[in-house]
Amino acid sequence: MTQYPSRHPLSAPRSRTSSAVTVIQSPRILAIANQKGGVGKTTTAINLATGLCAVGKKVLLLDLDPQGNASTGLGIMRASIQKSTYDVLFGEVNVLDAAVETKVPGLFVVPSSVHLSGAEIELVTAPRREYRLREALRTPLPYDYVLIDCPPSLNLLTLNALVATDSIVVPLQCEFYALEGLSHLVKTIERVQKHYNPSLDIHGVLLTMYDKRNNLSNMVAHDVRRFFGDKVYKTIIPRNVRVSEAPSYGLPAIVYDMRSPGAQAYIHLAGEVLKRERQILRQVDVA
Ligand SMILES: Nc1ncnc2c1ncn2[C@@H]1O[C@H](COP(=O)(O)OP(=O)(O)O)[C@@H](O)[C@H]1O
Ligand SMILES: [Mg+2]
Repeated sequence: MTQYPSRHPLSAPRSRTSSAVTVIQSPRILAIANQKGGVGKTTTAINLATGLCAVGKKVLLLDLDPQGNASTGLGIMRASIQKSTYDVLFGEVNVLDAAVETKVPGLFVVPSSVHLSGAEIELVTAPRREYRLREALRTPLPYDYVLIDCPPSLNLLTLNALVATDSIVVPLQCEFYALEGLSHLVKTIERVQKHYNPSLDIHGVLLTMYDKRNNLSNMVAHDVRRFFGDKVYKTIIPRNVRVSEAPSYGLPAIVYDMRSPGAQAYIHLAGEVLKRERQILRQVDVA
């Protein structure tokens, strides 16, 4: 019989897949969230997931956006989708049965489907409506990480992600309105901490689409660091055409053109995320 170690944020052993034995435990969950559209959530979800796989982690990317860009960006054809995040949310299938393999070794995706656009309304009257995703994910699974690509709003779908997740990655586009609306996100996080998920925190704030030739990018980066301090990742994702081309080939930028500055930045980010994870683990051990 498989032994399922009890869940502990990070001190539980990560899943190790070897020819001899597979240890299954609850994965760490990171939600990629910002209610603004076009800030780089999906791009970050795909490439951070790929970067983690590149160092041997096993990752599940759950596409919670009805637009399904994370699914198509990983080469999943909409017509081929049989089980989706919608089915997981409504308990029709479990996560493992809905997960499909991608071209990236170690990376699996639970795709989005058109049904997800109606889920918001259906959730309103569903029992335990804020906990649907948490109950689906907080279970032993054969992944080290689950990444959730959130929709561009603070609706019940995003609320489900915030209730389910351990920590949040907030991408911010280096543009004039970057900080606008963030207080709303921060208040929502505080509300979720208070009522549903006390250990929720912000893993990090990620500056995206940085253009070094543009003075505004520098000013925004400076303001964001003043506002969020150490929470801002040292890695900055540059604006890079290879990053924006990659999804049309159904590939992460890291696979499409590994040498491009955008891909290199995401590889760097994966390293920084894992470094923070180790720091969190040490804090958990000390406490
Ligand atoms: N670093 C980048 N360089 C160039 N284009 C980018 C970069 N990051 C994202 N994009 C492009 O910007 C658009 C919005 O990004 P996306 O990740 O879909 O944002 P969101 O998921 O927040 O809506 C997409 O067309 C994407 O390809
Ligand atoms: Mg998106």
